[in-house]
Amino acid sequence: MSTSVLTAVAWPYTNGPRHIGHVSGIGVPSDVFARYHRMVGNKVLMVSGSDEHGTPIQVQAEKEGVTPRELVDRYHRVIAEDMQGLGVSYDLYTRTTSGNHYGVVQQIFLALYRNGYIVPKTTTGAVSPSTGRTLPDRYIEGTCPICGADGARGDQCDNCGNQLDAADLRNPISRVNAETPEFVETEHLFLDLPAFTDSLGKWLSTRTGWRSNVLNFTRNLVEDMRPRPITRDLDWGVPIPLEGWDAQSMKRLYVWFDAVIGYFSASVEWARRSGDPDAWKAWWNDPEAQRVYFMGKDNITFHAQIWPALLMGHNGQGDRAGTPGPYGELNLPSEIASSEFLTMSGSKFSTSRGTVIYVRDFLREFGPDTLRYFISAAGPETQDVDFTWDEFVRRINFELANEWGNLVNRAVSMAAKNVGAVPTPRAPEPADEELKASARAAFDVVGEHLQHSRFRAATQEAMRVVGAANKYLSEQEPWKRKDDPDRRDTILHTALQVVSDANTLLTPFLPHAAQKVHELLGGTGVWAKQPELREVADLDVADRQYPIVTGDYSVEQASWQSRPIEVGRPLSKPTPLFTKLDPELAETGPEWAPIQD
Ligand code: MF3
Ligand code: ZN
Repeated sequence: MSTSVLTAVAWPYTNGPRHIGHVSGIGVPSDVFARYHRMVGNKVLMVSGSDEHGTPIQVQAEKEGVTPRELVDRYHRVIAEDMQGLGVSYDLYTRTTSGNHYGVVQQIFLALYRNGYIVPKTTTGAVSPSTGRTLPDRYIEGTCPICGADGARGDQCDNCGNQLDAADLRNPISRVNAETPEFVETEHLFLDLPAFTDSLGKWLSTRTGWRSNVLNFTRNLVEDMRPRPITRDLDWGVPIPLEGWDAQSMKRLYVWFDAVIGYFSASVEWARRSGDPDAWKAWWNDPEAQRVYFMGKDNITFHAQIWPALLMGHNGQGDRAGTPGPYGELNLPSEIASSEFLTMSGSKFSTSRGTVIYVRDFLREFGPDTLRYFISAAGPETQDVDFTWDEFVRRINFELANEWGNLVNRAVSMAAKNVGAVPTPRAPEPADEELKASARAAFDVVGEHLQHSRFRAATQEAMRVVGAANKYLSEQEPWKRKDDPDRRDTILHTALQVVSDANTLLTPFLPHAAQKVHELLGGTGVWAKQPELREVADLDVADRQYPIVTGDYSVEQASWQSRPIEVGRPLSKPTPLFTKLDPELAETGPEWAPIQD
């Protein structure tokens, strides 16, 4: 039976091009997951977009001397291109400055407000003593009151991942001019988290099957249910749809409040663009749907605590009950697939520190599938991983080129040369049957791993089949069977069948190469569909256009099963699937990201 699977991918800040650390926790794993589920026949909705509000955007806009809107217009396009180039098969990659997003966010806000989960409070806000202007949390830096790390920001500590209040930082200073901020009283709206103590606490304590890093984290969250401010003193963000607040131009909804709602608003936008405006309901109102969220570990709080609380409040399911908002009862997340960090020489990949390897440079030189493979096979799934060119070269040369590329090349070129087509198998021997059976058995194993976001184990199992096929060819030596063409053809047929199966198993990881192997095996049409970049009109704001990433993946032939290869399909001499990397790269790095000592 077909299941609806919501693949919700964290929204990158629109403050620069993406580096490979950004896509290691979101773009690649989520896409492998979504592609697998489509191949199984499930109804996938994969959504994300650019996170365009808040101080990260304002800080960068100031740095570049442009307005926030100019900044996000520029980088939304760049990021959409990065994701499309990587082959991330979003049903919709949109942005939080769309008219649709503003409308949906305000509807959710109002539902929470009506149910009594949003309350005003007087609080202390920072101002700059020299200018008298409000200093947003993110402009303040100091020592984390929780873990004691230096360099914590007023909104969040990158070291321990906790959300902070700027007023709690020890030794706070302004990042703008290093002066000590003054804290004054100001009114803000708060999400009343204590009103979710029972409901959310119960929900969190009954999660099973979540990764242990997430479970450990959420245990602490239950004990820390303080009211959270959801408005900020900023003029860049979604306006607050309440009388008395909308007119105060300097207050906006907090970026995290609007961003997490993006998962839902993007689903609504996708449905509206699809011609069936209610189509989102299959993923959001039907409790049978699976809802899997992909993110880096610094986002767990927002996905395991804040977002579920917002949904419960909207639904009227917090401790104060209430009635569902205009969208009915919305589904909470069913899984939080959080990844660790991809680091380079020990420091967190970040555009503000250390060497940066940009996705677009990477794609230009090495293509998408090498990066996808590296992240799947050796990425920061359960612990931080240090990216090194040495490891990259080793994986690509020994695993992709020598093992997989070579297998495809040997099998196809021998069959092309000797037969010119997929040969007819004659009497199979036990070795042939064994190899084919072991390839068929891998579908369940790899599938089981992918269902639980175990990408490393899944890659390993798929590559085990490749290794077994290479060993088989070396043992059977079809090139020495000139005087026994029947046996030769049977061996080649077996090898081609297993190449076809391995290609299916590798399709979620290597969709571009998979299309090529499909064609090398004589297949036609679309095996694995790639996403498209499309220019669309904003659905609600006149005269505004923006690029989205989208695609019609229903045209794909790829399905999660062993398909018998068709005897007689013409084959021709293959071109190499992967080019080997110059071993020197391991020592020097590429020109655009040289290794520094
Ligand atoms: N922009 C945030 C970050 O890069 C992630 C937002 S995820 C969202 O850390 F779902 F809330 F959008
Ligand atoms: Zn900390």
